[in-house]
Amino acid sequence: MSEEKQKNPVKKEIMRMPAEIRFSDQLEALKSIDEGDKPESWYLSPSRVNDFIVGREEPIKMKKGNKTVEVFITRKFYGNDIMIQRAIASLLSDRPLLLIGEPGTAKSWLSENLTAAICNNSLNVIQGTAGTTEDQIKYSWNYASLIANGPSLEALVPAPFYNCMKRGEIVRFEEITRCSHEIQDTIISILSDKVLAIPELPPPNDIVFAQKGFGVIGTANTRDRGVNEMSSALKRRFNFETVHPIKNIKEEIELVSKETEIFLEKAGIKRQPDLDVIELIVTTFNEMRNGISAEGIQVAKPSVVMSTAEAVEVSVNSAMYSHYIKNEDMNANSAVINLVGSVVKDNYEDLDKLRSYFNVIIKKKAEDKGKLWANYYDARDYI
Ligand SMILES: Nc1ncnc2c1ncn2[C@@H]1O[C@H](COP(=O)(O)OP(=O)(O)O)[C@@H](O)[C@H]1O
Ligand SMILES: [Mg+2]
Repeated sequence: MSEEKQKNPVKKEIMRMPAEIRFSDQLEALKSIDEGDKPESWYLSPSRVNDFIVGREEPIKMKKGNKTVEVFITRKFYGNDIMIQRAIASLLSDRPLLLIGEPGTAKSWLSENLTAAICNNSLNVIQGTAGTTEDQIKYSWNYASLIANGPSLEALVPAPFYNCMKRGEIVRFEEITRCSHEIQDTIISILSDKVLAIPELPPPNDIVFAQKGFGVIGTANTRDRGVNEMSSALKRRFNFETVHPIKNIKEEIELVSKETEIFLEKAGIKRQPDLDVIELIVTTFNEMRNGISAEGIQVAKPSVVMSTAEAVEVSVNSAMYSHYIKNEDMNANSAVINLVGSVVKDNYEDLDKLRSYFNVIIKKKAEDKGKLWANYYDARDYI
């Protein structure tokens, strides 16, 4: 055992890899069959980028060393496939893209996967907040070097716009509408002229011309203070795509079970997600989000979003709770126990809405549909 391991027997691992590393085998497989026309600066051609996002039915056979392996291209985004094609077309025509929608609808996830497939690098990210400064968007200075030697390229600390313009890559601007107006508008001239001025530097370094391939994918949540406040000048420069919550319950179940399976596997837990229990969770999310049950009964909508991202969390929490605390598979009890924290944040009226959803809707399903739903109904005391 190495000295390091003896001192520290707890295993440390990176929690989350960027999409281009996590799915590197899929990107490589798509590259190996990529014969489509593509802009030179793109890693994959647009139709292979589309495959990467929506998946392929048939696996790709690829040579690895002296073996041939089959690589499945998994679906990354569930929903409107035409929207994905439009989003790719927008980036092809050098138009910045703005993904807007409710929280938890996979806007960031989609932006990460698009940039992974187009640039093989999804890490050029600006996280928009009320405190975002121009320095964090364009460039800043290493003050020690600046004071010692004056403004020079060595003293310049690049930020995502500078880097991406130089390299011809895509900047991801997360939650752009959380930034102040002034900060949002500092990118207008870059988007129109594709030029970044650095007035502090002498020529020829006082101007960065964007290389082909430079682009922007912004995201914005419609729930937060926001998207309306973007200036009309900035709005005009973006193509807007609205990302809706998943409508199809079957697709949502598939996604939640896939994500739960990946989580269990990563945690080294030898249990499988339970599709029946996931159906209970997803149905609850779907019906409370839409304000109507499958039977056509009105449901009081809680003040929270009830997003698919949170359905994934409830499912994962339920599996973790069952395994580590109860030493059993996920079940109706652990689903209800872990549902509460998602539905009820700081508004206690939502607790009543959840109780009444169980007392009316789940009660009816328990009567009509049998044991699975009856177990779920019986677990309502945990709410
Ligand atoms: N339509 C969808 N397709 C794929 N994953 C989704 C979808 N909707 C929600 N998710 C799940 O939500 C997670 C997080 O979404 P995220 O990108 O953070 O949402 P947003 O940026 O819209 O708030 C994703 O990692 C995925 O597990
Ligand atoms: Mg996001």
